[in-house]
Amino acid sequence: MPDEHFTPEVTVTLRVNGTNTQVPCDVRTTLLDLLRERLRLTGTKKGCDRGECGACTVHLDGRRVNACMVLAASADGSEVTTIEGLARDDELHPVQQAFIEADAFQCGFCTPGQIMSAVCCIQEGHTGSNNEIREWMSGNICRCSAYPQIAAAVEAAARKEL
Ligand code: FES
Ligand code: FES
Repeated sequence: MPDEHFTPEVTVTLRVNGTNTQVPCDVRTTLLDLLRERLRLTGTKKGCDRGECGACTVHLDGRRVNACMVLAASADGSEVTTIEGLARDDELHPVQQAFIEADAFQCGFCTPGQIMSAVCCIQEGHTGSNNEIREWMSGNICRCSAYPQIAAAVEAAARKEL
């Protein structure tokens, strides 16, 4: 008879913000929950937990993803960058600096996801115009509606040719 309380576990190997780590977890654990609850990297936010808000955006092998939509086990062997891994020593990443200079946040809850998404938006070359930036940043919702300042920050950071 099957054991109803059995939860299959896996050990996930990741390189997170430049550090190799191995985390045993339930196979159903999302990358978001692994980062926040197991590695205590709470800069990545949980908004909707179903792929709609972008608050949980991280880089997975250099591409932006919603961490709530990725099973940790499926990311095994990957490189993950979170908002905590963006700055270099005491120097903010240029996109972080641009968000400060453009006053691109109010409550700040969406900001880590916005910044992680913006870094990739710029690398992908989707910064030809304000409208293009808005389109390619549209997966990141801001309930404070700081969109004009967010787009301005991305535009300014893109101009500095990251
Ligand atoms: S928490 Fe992942 S998209 Fe909203
Ligand atoms: S600054 Fe508040 S949700 Fe974006």
